[in-house]
Amino acid sequence: MFETLQNLPQDPILGLMAAYKADPNPNKVDLGVGVYRNDAGATPVLRAVKDAERQLALDEDTKAYLPQMGDPVFNRNIIDLVFGADHAAVTAQRVRSVQTPGGCGALRIGAEVIKRSRPDARVWVSSPTWPNHIPLIGSTGLEFKEYPYYDRATRRIEFDAMLAALQQAQANDVVLLHGCCHNPSGADLSQEQWREITALAARIGFTPFIDTAYQGLGEGLEEDAFGMRWMAANLPELLVASSCSKNFGLYRERTGAIMFMAAEPEQAARTQSQAAHAARQIYSMPPAHGALIAGAILESSELRTAWETELTEMRDRINGVRGLLAEKLNANNVGIDFEFIQRERGMFSFLGITAEQVNQLREQYGIYMVDSTRINVAGVNSSNIDYLVESVLAVL
Ligand code: LMR
Repeated sequence: MFETLQNLPQDPILGLMAAYKADPNPNKVDLGVGVYRNDAGATPVLRAVKDAERQLALDEDTKAYLPQMGDPVFNRNIIDLVFGADHAAVTAQRVRSVQTPGGCGALRIGAEVIKRSRPDARVWVSSPTWPNHIPLIGSTGLEFKEYPYYDRATRRIEFDAMLAALQQAQANDVVLLHGCCHNPSGADLSQEQWREITALAARIGFTPFIDTAYQGLGEGLEEDAFGMRWMAANLPELLVASSCSKNFGLYRERTGAIMFMAAEPEQAARTQSQAAHAARQIYSMPPAHGALIAGAILESSELRTAWETELTEMRDRINGVRGLLAEKLNANNVGIDFEFIQRERGMFSFLGITAEQVNQLREQYGIYMVDSTRINVAGVNSSNIDYLVESVLAVL
């Protein structure tokens, strides 16, 4: 059965994690995988999560299966978090959620539902996008189209080119957008740009599919949801894949949700049943632990307040590091203006150096970033920032 199978290279992001771990260099710096780190370089369990876990350990009285759609408390709260509890689409019961194993599960189940409803739909993805979007969605057999998004020369969104490309989308197509904290570029659409894309979607009839994995880590919980909520208010249909990996720090608990906003409540319910059916064929049902924790945090005003405080600490640290890193790199006047690091949002930015320089930083200095030059800004701290800046300047 197995003798003809070939060994496959590791995933570029997860492979980098393993390479970093194996590197004996005491000065090594991990700017690879998108995991939040505090100033001590650690990724501790959030205090609100610990408290919810303690309570769950006392209260939990069964490990029997969750309902097929997942935990109802989690599903209700995640809709409110993303759309806003008093959003007209929510109060009209036009939004339904299925709990999934992380944001990846949400993207895959969303794609399965699209494939069932519109087998010929083309999925438009930003150039560049998170590399795993392609296999996750593409494994359903859906076709891809790319729209220009980030111009590496100007280090800005090429919005005119993006709009021009999306004019070619058709009514049956799906356009994948990053809700906030674009991965890998860190360049986010302005409110005005969200409005323009919404108007285009309304005119052409394509369906936006919003991947939101960083809500609260850009500008704030509400601010980061602007685009989704604007689209939800002005379009009949929407898919949203949401992840609790980063903003709840629940990475390994694989906690996420796929949400469908339909024109009518009955359509939303039917779509939800298709998603649950698709999930049953792939993994049957999602794991419980992370969703029970996130659901408990969002349900309790005390835990929610504690969580929001920690989320603000994480966001402020990332944005503070962005400012400091840009300032330190710019202090040396090397002919590149690093101000874009300060301007961008979320965990990632492209450093914008050459592939050779990325390699040199890894081999000679033990500084790990993705080949695309994507850095995880949260990997920078007060102990490694000067070493990082000196090393980058040395290879430029
Ligand atoms: C990343 O982009 O680094 C994260 O979303 C982790 C992953 O699974 O790739």
